[in-house]
Amino acid sequence: MLLPRCFAQGSRRLGMLLAISLFASLSCAEQPSAPSPVAAPMRPLPWGQLNFLATTDTHGWLAGHLQEPQYSADWGDYISFATRIKEQADERGVDVLLIDCGDRIEGNGIYDASSPKGLYTYDIFRQQHIDVITTGNHELYQPNASDREYQLSVPNSRGNYLASNLDYIIPETGEQVPMAQRFRKFTTKNQKIEVLAFGFLFDFRGNANNTRVQKVENTIKEKWFQDAIREKVDLFVVAGHIILPGKEVKALYEAIRRQNWDTPIQFFGGHSHIRDFHKYDSSAYGIQGGRYLETVGWMSIDGIPKKSEKTKSISADSAKKDISFKRRYIDNNLFGYHYHTGLNETTFPTKLGQNASESIRLARKALDLDHSYGCAPKNLWLSRAQYPSNDSILTWLDTEVMPEVIVNPKRKDVPTLALTNSGAMRFDIFKGPFTRDSTYILSPFISKFLYIKDVPYESAKRVLTLINNAGQVLAAQNLPSASVLGPPEQISDCEDSKAPEPLQPLTFSDQRPLSSTSSKHLPNLIPGYTTKDDGGDDGDDTQHAPISFYNVPNCIQSEISFPEKGAPETVDVVFVDFIQPWVLAALAFSGAVYKIDDVELYREETLTELITGWIGKHWQKEC
Ligand SMILES: *[C@@H]1O[C@H](CO)[C@@H](O)[C@H](O)[C@H]1NC(C)=O
Ligand SMILES: *[C@@H]1O[C@H](CO)[C@@H](O)[C@H](O)[C@H]1NC(C)=O
Ligand SMILES: *[C@@H]1O[C@H](CO)[C@@H](O)[C@H](O)[C@H]1NC(C)=O
Ligand SMILES: *[C@@H]1O[C@H](CO)[C@@H](O)[C@H](O)[C@H]1NC(C)=O
Ligand SMILES: *[C@@H]1O[C@H](CO)[C@@H](O)[C@H](O)[C@H]1NC(C)=O
Repeated sequence: MLLPRCFAQGSRRLGMLLAISLFASLSCAEQPSAPSPVAAPMRPLPWGQLNFLATTDTHGWLAGHLQEPQYSADWGDYISFATRIKEQADERGVDVLLIDCGDRIEGNGIYDASSPKGLYTYDIFRQQHIDVITTGNHELYQPNASDREYQLSVPNSRGNYLASNLDYIIPETGEQVPMAQRFRKFTTKNQKIEVLAFGFLFDFRGNANNTRVQKVENTIKEKWFQDAIREKVDLFVVAGHIILPGKEVKALYEAIRRQNWDTPIQFFGGHSHIRDFHKYDSSAYGIQGGRYLETVGWMSIDGIPKKSEKTKSISADSAKKDISFKRRYIDNNLFGYHYHTGLNETTFPTKLGQNASESIRLARKALDLDHSYGCAPKNLWLSRAQYPSNDSILTWLDTEVMPEVIVNPKRKDVPTLALTNSGAMRFDIFKGPFTRDSTYILSPFISKFLYIKDVPYESAKRVLTLINNAGQVLAAQNLPSASVLGPPEQISDCEDSKAPEPLQPLTFSDQRPLSSTSSKHLPNLIPGYTTKDDGGDDGDDTQHAPISFYNVPNCIQSEISFPEKGAPETVDVVFVDFIQPWVLAALAFSGAVYKIDDVELYREETLTELITGWIGKHWQKEC
């Protein structure tokens, strides 16, 4: 139904020379297999003098969500949206800036399935003109990924990549250089607002040896930073791959405020994959735009006082207004994009956006991402179902998958405790085809199983409890908090915090439902985010029925080949490589001291390959 109309439009625009199939997908935008968005009650965007569109933690989801209508727009649609919003800003005489706070890679087939990784994604990503772009921790785990940041992302960003506390080591010379410029000062197009922007990464320690992350507390002592915050600008922008309540943002806020008691500051956060809005004072706020191209954060600032004399006349009336900061979380789908722009499927798309959508489609095809390994019989949730329960991915993993794949011919029938961290799983499994793409969405990591043989059971049996409940004990051994082993959504402070954090259960499940009166008037709401933040509970652009999210443990465990009765004397302790430091620390704490040399490889295949193999065997091929 949709295709012929799109085709007609495409052919008018581009002439009759190209193949029909190209037109069909070219002009429709979003991915051909994406579900259509569902209409829902909406809240409009609050506009100000200066407005922002902010993404973070997109993790390669350029194609959008092909199994969830609410997030079904792709990167090309976002390009069209940004272009249309900028056109409207020009008409209103205000400004729009785009921000991206890192973790653009790892977590979706279109990045992970190619060799080298990201073969298609860097070129597609750069089609969006972003004004401030920063680095996440995921860009720095693999040396090759940091190389690509330096060689591709930085030049692609046309001078807008900021690396305030990150250096890169040039492989040929060993020379340590800033990954990109430390900060950037610019004046906005229409309102002539003078902005000074920084780009930070939290105090991350897990990077490969070809980058250096400087602690934020040290960076703010450097001369260039101290000079920069003494510049007389109208607004400071701090984009960071940092959680908004994190200690790094607090240090930056305090440093800037010491020099500027009233200059507005706008923070942009990331890393923990949530929607968040944070008030520091009446002229300093932060927003975080979720994850996986589900959310585009919208921020508007109005009444920005002008510091510079020469531009005062341009908006003399702004001095009279009180400054205000407003936010909105935009669900990434075409229904919302049309609503916010007042355009429709004919008038909304831009050539640049359609070209990006087409590039995404071709890349997915080249990588055969729709190849199906099996058909999931039902939805399995990472944090939308309680653990343990039949709808939990982690229960499926520890009761069905692990007992079958944790086998090693050399250790046949040896009682085994097998541990996997819950953070090794990144997303849900939806009823329907489990594809090549799904494997990277579920777990993009190249984790392998390692083991220590013949560990006294009395010590081995305490490891799980220690990692899940006794973070303090392990943190005392100078390890990052074991909460880094869980999903990013459960990050409550940054990895390097010195003070051991108690592992408190987080209260995702009390995200507030819409009030009962509004529910009565708005039946059939689609389940989705019902965010509550420092601005209240009206931040989401789409009114949703609430979804409950549950806290999950840092690690799960399977008992394999245990005797029918009684406890074994010794067991093999099998674990994914990522958690080795915590396993060794927990064993040592329980009286079983092992060295790295005692650890051997248990299976060649990665965790993801083992899961895919299990699915191929147990879930029927066709849906
Ligand atoms: C279309 O997109 C591709 C990749 O995303 C890019 O290389 C190419 O330059 C784009 N073409 C146009 C006309 O924008
Ligand atoms: C990193 O890049 C080099 C050279 O491009 C390549 O030989 C190597 O296989 C890559 N390593 C990984 C882990 O991708
Ligand atoms: C990083 O580690 C690798 C492997 O251990 C080594 O070959 C390389 O020289 C190191 N690079 C730097 C910049 O230290
Ligand atoms: C889209 O909007 C244009 C301009 O308002 C209008 O002419 C056209 O009929 C609309 N198309 C659809 C499919 O609604
Ligand atoms: C969970 O699944 C198991 C095995 O399929 C079944 O025996 C059990 O009744 C299920 N529990 C619930 C609460 O559905």
